[in-house]
Amino acid sequence: MSFKSEAASFKPEAIDLSHHLSTIAKARQTSPLKGLPSPAYFPFSDISGSVLAANSFPVDRNEGTSSFSWFWNLFGGGKERTTSVTIPKYPTRLSTGLPQLQKIVKEYSDKVYDPAYGNYQTLLHAGNTDAWSKVVLTLCNPGDGVLVSKWTYPSAMASMRPYGMVPVPVDIDTQGMRSDALRTILSEWDAEARGMPRPRVIYAVPIGENPTGTTTRVARKKEIYQICVEDDPYFVLQEGTYVPKSQRARHTQNPAELDDEKFIASLEPSYLKFDYQGRVIRLDTFSKTIAPGCRLGWYTCNPMFAERLERAAETSTQAPCGFGQSLVAGALLEWGYHGYMRWLKALRLQYTIRRDFFVDCLVDEFHMTTAPGAMGTMWDGAQVYQGFANPQRSLTGYFSEKVSTTSPLISFVPPTSGTHVKIHFDQHPSFGTMDTETLEMKLFIALAEVGVLFGPGAMFSATGDWSSDKSGHFRISFSSAENNEMKKAVQIFGKTIREFMSTPQI
Ligand SMILES: Cc1ncc(COP(=O)(O)O)c(C=O)c1O
Repeated sequence: MSFKSEAASFKPEAIDLSHHLSTIAKARQTSPLKGLPSPAYFPFSDISGSVLAANSFPVDRNEGTSSFSWFWNLFGGGKERTTSVTIPKYPTRLSTGLPQLQKIVKEYSDKVYDPAYGNYQTLLHAGNTDAWSKVVLTLCNPGDGVLVSKWTYPSAMASMRPYGMVPVPVDIDTQGMRSDALRTILSEWDAEARGMPRPRVIYAVPIGENPTGTTTRVARKKEIYQICVEDDPYFVLQEGTYVPKSQRARHTQNPAELDDEKFIASLEPSYLKFDYQGRVIRLDTFSKTIAPGCRLGWYTCNPMFAERLERAAETSTQAPCGFGQSLVAGALLEWGYHGYMRWLKALRLQYTIRRDFFVDCLVDEFHMTTAPGAMGTMWDGAQVYQGFANPQRSLTGYFSEKVSTTSPLISFVPPTSGTHVKIHFDQHPSFGTMDTETLEMKLFIALAEVGVLFGPGAMFSATGDWSSDKSGHFRISFSSAENNEMKKAVQIFGKTIREFMSTPQI
């Protein structure tokens, strides 16, 4: 039951980066006073929860081929295996509160991210959303630009814009932010023409970027490494390349064969792995691995940034909610490091199975071909799936004869996390008289009316500017729907898009 790390080998210390602090961050003061009421009057004498066994979900692909099998084991035929963890109001032998959780996350960062400098620190926060708003205020002043992928996580943009920080979009490809485009922007930066100084901060979502689901691989990360804020909720859920159904059994690694070290080595490493100067502020969250409602995560960064971020929390959120901390610490101590790794391996497998099933549904619904992505486009070099109206669908009675079967309706690159589907609006009869954003919104509404909710692509544009694109885009989540719902949603999507693409809009 140990989260202990081995003795650290020699690593350099972080360099002085205090010149990157914002005016607000420099001015932050220690909160002088804390009031603590008497714990005798706290109405909870303890907090307890039933924690699933760390091996509740299979890590063997052959056991976990359907998301129903575990569901059945858990809630149907099999008996749910849980342990009760209770955190007393007054600590007895060991407190499972804050100090232990701090220790666990530090040891997790040591082992899993293995930062390239020695004196990094970890600091608990209340989830990545809140952590990012604190970080951007710590690094930027109003009017500063932040380098972001052209399409990215909209809530991160929404939290910085009102403070006057400006997203500076960088072109993307199948690995997310392009390092050559980044280099060009920075080397050609004209502060006067742009109306802002050269940006110093990069906001990166290296795994499962929204809406594209891309993964930034290690060589690209090394090129991008600068001052980088790594918002990485999906690190352990890296789903790997989609392998078509017919070849899956032969070509997919079975996580059951991975011990903890091999599991960590199978993941694209964090920016921290080669951060030898303390330039990266990494944001981790328990939202995707335990529960979003616990509002809990942690920073891994150099001590100077950690100290300023602690000051920022001191006068706002203070520490993350103690109830959530206690229960998460209770579960992690119950499982131990090895158990938590076992839990994470199974989660990754479950999401991979869901991704595979979802892409299989698209492949079944459309007449699908694959072709290399066109040069110079976002999908340059990738294998692009193109979905045409499937003539076989006419047998089911809902195929619209008017829709073309020779031009693709949709395209996508099977994602390494999350799904992004491009809609070929240039095939739409109203294309030219109606802009793509309006067509996208109309298709979004048509889908919503028949009970299918996809995220419209326009919401993911870093700048809100969408006009240069001839296609529509949707982000489709497969994380929480069950297989039968996913299958049905894709069939409804197929029918709706065939009708939509053959009907002039007014
Ligand atoms: C890139 C990214 N950052 C942050 C979050 C939210 O994290 P948290 O629940 O820790 O605030 C999400 C997803 O919900 C996300 O996709």
